[in-house]
Amino acid sequence: MATEPWLPQALLQRKRNGEALDAPALRRWMRGVAEGRVSDAQLGAFAMAVCLRGMSAAETLALTLAMRDSGDCLDWHAAGLDGPLLDKHSTGGVGDLTSLVLGPLIAACGGYVPMLSGRGLGHTGGTLDKLESIPGLRSEVDPTRLQQVVREAGVAIVAAGGALAPADQRLYAVRDVTATVDSIPLITGSILSKKLAAGSHALLLDVKVGSGATLADRGSAEALAASLVEVAHAAGLPTRALLTDMGEPLAGCVGNGLEMRAAIDYLLGTSTPPRLHELVLLLGVEMLQQGGLAADAADARRRLCAARDSGAAAQRLQHMVALLGGPADLLERHVRYLPGAACRVPVQAMESGVVSAIDASVLGMGLVALGGGRCVPGAAIDPRVGIDAIVAVGSPVEPGVPLAWIHTADASQAAAVRERLRRAFILGQRAEPAPILLRRVGACSDAEVTA
Ligand code: URA
Repeated sequence: MATEPWLPQALLQRKRNGEALDAPALRRWMRGVAEGRVSDAQLGAFAMAVCLRGMSAAETLALTLAMRDSGDCLDWHAAGLDGPLLDKHSTGGVGDLTSLVLGPLIAACGGYVPMLSGRGLGHTGGTLDKLESIPGLRSEVDPTRLQQVVREAGVAIVAAGGALAPADQRLYAVRDVTATVDSIPLITGSILSKKLAAGSHALLLDVKVGSGATLADRGSAEALAASLVEVAHAAGLPTRALLTDMGEPLAGCVGNGLEMRAAIDYLLGTSTPPRLHELVLLLGVEMLQQGGLAADAADARRRLCAARDSGAAAQRLQHMVALLGGPADLLERHVRYLPGAACRVPVQAMESGVVSAIDASVLGMGLVALGGGRCVPGAAIDPRVGIDAIVAVGSPVEPGVPLAWIHTADASQAAAVRERLRRAFILGQRAEPAPILLRRVGACSDAEVTA
């Protein structure tokens, strides 16, 4: 008997009309996405329908598993690792470079970190774009190479590639340019499909809140954290989430090369941006405890500080970079390898006051306008452009004082974004910087994690 042809538009119609999609239908759809039988237009329509109609928890779990099963899952049994596989993922932030330093730190403390990361998404930056600002480095690797890099360097921050969660790769690129980033089921499926495919023993989620986050408001971030933890546990992955503030860039800069440089300076100990340092220790302590690599929080903190102070974490980054095709002398010559753009233009304050808030999403979209993010899927980006020396919330300023500096390929480009960037800085009489940690969600027992 002839089988009926599969019509992608039938599923779109169901979702558009508000029906819940079942697991077999989602599995078939995501396989179609991975195999190229669903067009970008259909994928954009799917993303928009999910954005507008939402998904139940059961549907979100089915979506996540369908995305995971669109490709392979890593098997670590034969890898001979002598420590736990630990992973962390951020829901996305402007000037959030935490993964670039946390991965090497955890590796230097005895964990193994297979970190499948993403590119820029909407106004938020992507860890892979930051990493690829290093000349020669290629983050697209096959699973065999990924496992080899994890075994040798302890950390691999790489793209999922065509083999792992390939449906996410296509959906992610389409969401980036179709205003469908801020959907709780889509973010849940995107993050967890990659994490489940990577096969870690435990996961820590950094759920961002504030103007530089994918979901700016606290209520949405709480709902996202709950969705992520619930779906991860249902899929068998021990997971904790922390709600943390993303109301301003963590190291005073936004831009792929600039953030990579800030990450290296942090690991070398030559610069310690306070909000980055506090967040890194907070997340690192949690991860070492999840992996049974520290007796308690104080012990975990001591181990993380020692891994940074001794240079061991910086060496882990260097090792990973070299294995991924980057220069073997990155640590010594990173300023030369990551030069920034030729033209630097200040964004000056027009009046006196205290910086009471920053609209970090404006900084993120400013980066896209400068050529540091994408307007169409797969477009090339300029790793040198960005914004740095961004004043922190709470800083007093006078007229003429730079609020930030634009790094651009040409001055006319800077003129086009300067006014918009100036309006991102809200001046008032006084300001209290927000605490980094807002809330913990879903702590599981450390006993759940075994190497
Ligand atoms: N990170 C991801 O991998 N996916 C999202 O949708 C958001 C952040």
